[in-house]
Amino acid sequence: MGRGGGRFGGRGGPERKPTLPLKESLKQLAHLLWPFIRPRLGAIILGTLCLLVGLALGKVVPLISAWLVDNVLTPAVKGGSDAPEIGVVYRQVGVAAAAMLGCALLSALVSGVHNWVVRSASASFVRDLRMAVYRHLQRLSLHFFESRPSGDVVSRVAGDVGGLEEVITFVGDRLFNDALNLLVTTGILFWLEWRLALVALIPVPLLLLMMRWFSTTIRPVYRATRDRYGEVHAKLQDNISGIRVIKAFHADEQEVSAVGGMVNRLFETQVRAIRLSSVAWPLMGFLHGFGHLLVISVGAFLIVRPGSTFTVGALFAFTAFVMQLYHPIGALFHTYNHLLQCLASGERVNEIMNAVPEVADASDAYELPDAVGQVAFDGVNFRYTPEVPVLKGVSFVAQPGEVVALVGRSGAGKTTIINLIARFYDPEAGRITVDGHDLQSITQASLRSQIAVVPQDAFLFNGSVSENIRYARPEASEEEVRAAARAAYAAEFIEALPDGYESLIGERGVKLSGGQRQRLAIARALLADRKILILDEATSMVDSHAEAEIQQALAGLMRGRTSFVIAHRLSTVVHADQILVVDEGTIVERGTHAELIERSGLYNSLCREQIRSA
Ligand SMILES: Nc1ncnc2c1ncn2[C@@H]1O[C@H](COP(=O)(O)OP(=O)(O)O)[C@@H](O)[C@H]1O
Ligand SMILES: [Mg+2]
Repeated sequence: MGRGGGRFGGRGGPERKPTLPLKESLKQLAHLLWPFIRPRLGAIILGTLCLLVGLALGKVVPLISAWLVDNVLTPAVKGGSDAPEIGVVYRQVGVAAAAMLGCALLSALVSGVHNWVVRSASASFVRDLRMAVYRHLQRLSLHFFESRPSGDVVSRVAGDVGGLEEVITFVGDRLFNDALNLLVTTGILFWLEWRLALVALIPVPLLLLMMRWFSTTIRPVYRATRDRYGEVHAKLQDNISGIRVIKAFHADEQEVSAVGGMVNRLFETQVRAIRLSSVAWPLMGFLHGFGHLLVISVGAFLIVRPGSTFTVGALFAFTAFVMQLYHPIGALFHTYNHLLQCLASGERVNEIMNAVPEVADASDAYELPDAVGQVAFDGVNFRYTPEVPVLKGVSFVAQPGEVVALVGRSGAGKTTIINLIARFYDPEAGRITVDGHDLQSITQASLRSQIAVVPQDAFLFNGSVSENIRYARPEASEEEVRAAARAAYAAEFIEALPDGYESLIGERGVKLSGGQRQRLAIARALLADRKILILDEATSMVDSHAEAEIQQALAGLMRGRTSFVIAHRLSTVVHADQILVVDEGTIVERGTHAELIERSGLYNSLCREQIRSA
């Protein structure tokens, strides 16, 4: 595990992953996000209105200054007969200052409202999106999780979804506001002096060309960056889960260098993005400065030209507006850049949202009525991957209340058979029924609510002992929890824990041995109290003395339920009503212990092997 991880390192590089056409990617992002944006349109519109007011106020202030310069200050400085009285000048300056103060206050107010409305809409947008992605993830079948590293999935749900937060501010806010600002400012510039406006527009086509170049070059880099984040997360997750193996084989250095390689590749893609933006932003700044310089030079020429009507005040306002012209172009550029980053995250989130559960309820699926407990396989074929057939023509009938044992060598297909009973996968051919109902025509929820499984690797969640036992039936009483623990032969060690049933287990709590974990998993299944009970090597890590005790307790609990037992110690299946001997995906023998021993086939030799090794 984990060792030699470098082999997988090259995956997801920018060279291998074809980028979607921009339009297609935008369409998919819109499709993904629209259901979450729609309920927030009110907030977006209010936020946009606030921005519009702020935008208008921004236009008023330079016009007030222009008026002050041309109509008040210039005549006062010039002197002469029509010069205003000093008192009038003071009053007019005071009026202008008061108007500007009013504008500043109003501006602050709308900016505050805007911030509150839009940011809270963004936050709730991300919350809902996160929930939706998580809900969809829970619906996906096991196959989805088996076919990709869990760290990459976590990175998509946590990182990429979070990265979409800014989308809300793009919609009403920035794109609309900046585009409108650009239009209005251009209009004002032409109104003030059309020739100078033309001069101011000279850098614009250059800016647009640059944006185009930037977007086509940087998009694949952004996607590669997100994918490499996913890779690093996946590797870390694998590393932390496998830390014991790493330590045991003294592979720390190897792991560090494997992770180092991945972190370096992430760094390299980041450097590519940094290099591109180091060219793009300064170039843009230069174009701004260049435009400004053109405007001032040509403007000065227009003012001093004989018979000119263009005033110093107008040039004053004009240069302020030129900044307001270039600023939204830069802002649009920034927004566009963010949008491209969001597209990369959006594509990754979409790959989850577009994943279809392989095992899905039929559109006319009905609820399985309270099960009696008959389980039948009829000519079932199954494969996990297209190349390798795993089950071939498996047929059997487990009558209600029977104990059916599955035995066979490791890798024979025993776990696969019980995976199909719980419908974790669908068979490729044949039929599986419970009480005569085809699994594919009933709902998964109603099927699974009749089944309790103790899987081969008894998984416990971080939490208390009692929470873990209660997992399938949270409303169970304290007494029921204790009874289940006693039946699973777990009560004794639980009571010896520092906080008894409330002791925390898992990463933040007490560490349990393999056998103890298995006993908790059995208690959990017993408490679930289901008609069909599946025990997959449920006592493989328990010592043989404890196993005998558990078997005795289980014998009572299996009464009235259909039970499937996979046991590695054949002594525990001697009393089964039916023993199915599985080999290479088919049932090669079936019968009771006595019948099978007679036959001197595979079962007989498995038994001999065990007696010999015991
Ligand atoms: N999730 C899986 N994906 C692909 N192959 C699998 C998967 N689980 C099991 N297999 C393969 O299917 C075969 C049967 O496995 P399994 O049913 O777990 O055997 P058993 O429980 O009898 O030891 C094995 O060859 C195993 O490698
Ligand atoms: Mg197995």
